[in-house]
Amino acid sequence: MRETLMPLGIGEIEVVTDASIALYGATDGAPGLVVIAGTGSICCGINSRGKRSCAGGWGPIAGDEGGGAWLARRGARVTGVDLTPAQLETARRMSEETGIAMELLEANAEDVPLPDESFDLALSEYGASIWCDPYKWIPEAARLLRPGGELAFLCNSPLAVICSPDTPDGKVGKQLVRPLFGLHRMDWEGEDGTDFHLPHGEMFRLLRDSGFEVEGLWEIQASESAEDHSYYDFVSAEWARQWPAEEIWKVRKRG
Ligand SMILES: C[S@@+](CC[C@H](N)C(=O)[O-])C[C@H]1O[C@@H](n2cnc3c(N)ncnc32)[C@H](O)[C@@H]1O
Repeated sequence: MRETLMPLGIGEIEVVTDASIALYGATDGAPGLVVIAGTGSICCGINSRGKRSCAGGWGPIAGDEGGGAWLARRGARVTGVDLTPAQLETARRMSEETGIAMELLEANAEDVPLPDESFDLALSEYGASIWCDPYKWIPEAARLLRPGGELAFLCNSPLAVICSPDTPDGKVGKQLVRPLFGLHRMDWEGEDGTDFHLPHGEMFRLLRDSGFEVEGLWEIQASESAEDHSYYDFVSAEWARQWPAEEIWKVRKRG
């Protein structure tokens, strides 16, 4: 890149995180800050003397952090489970670059080759929580947790799913287009993947039958300033301001 740009008269290249770009896009160099939260989270600000500072994220190396990295930094022993070698390779590289240690395991979250009752906390953010069969991964999470251990997961809301038409470019609409009763396995038209969703009543029953007590269910509302996302365009900000597109469950294993 340096060789290409030098002849154009550009002598200095600074590699920055996309959070810095977002900060300058929002403030144009004036005092202010941006908070970016999604899979990871980072807050960057600039003061009246032009001093920049960031909290969260992976600092100048990757510009973002995942939940597992956040926990490992605070001293937890973290194990990341994923079925896809490329995802694990990215995590391994990030772990090496940042020095945040974690064990990475290639496995199906429906059947994890680790001992019973070996974890205090299990997290899933659009991993097992939508890509695994809940009748398999939720009992498996219960098996892996110690009594009193916590499971938290983020997924699409069942309302968003029953408002999703089965077309390749289908967007979440304002009409119910499929039954709620029986909602479970989704094989979308024109897509390779299969995802899973349950109605709330069924999810409550499954969690309780698997040995969990439900401590919280947060139906997430998009903020007034939320804008449509170019990649996650199946649901609009306007829709998600009026109805929950996503939800977080927090449950504890009885002990
Ligand atoms: C949308 S990503 C989110 C993962 C994680 N929260 C992150 O931010 O990297 C979904 C992940 O689920 C993984 N996945 C899909 N099916 C799985 C399964 N049966 N067991 C374990 N991981 C699975 C995929 O390989 C992918 O890395």
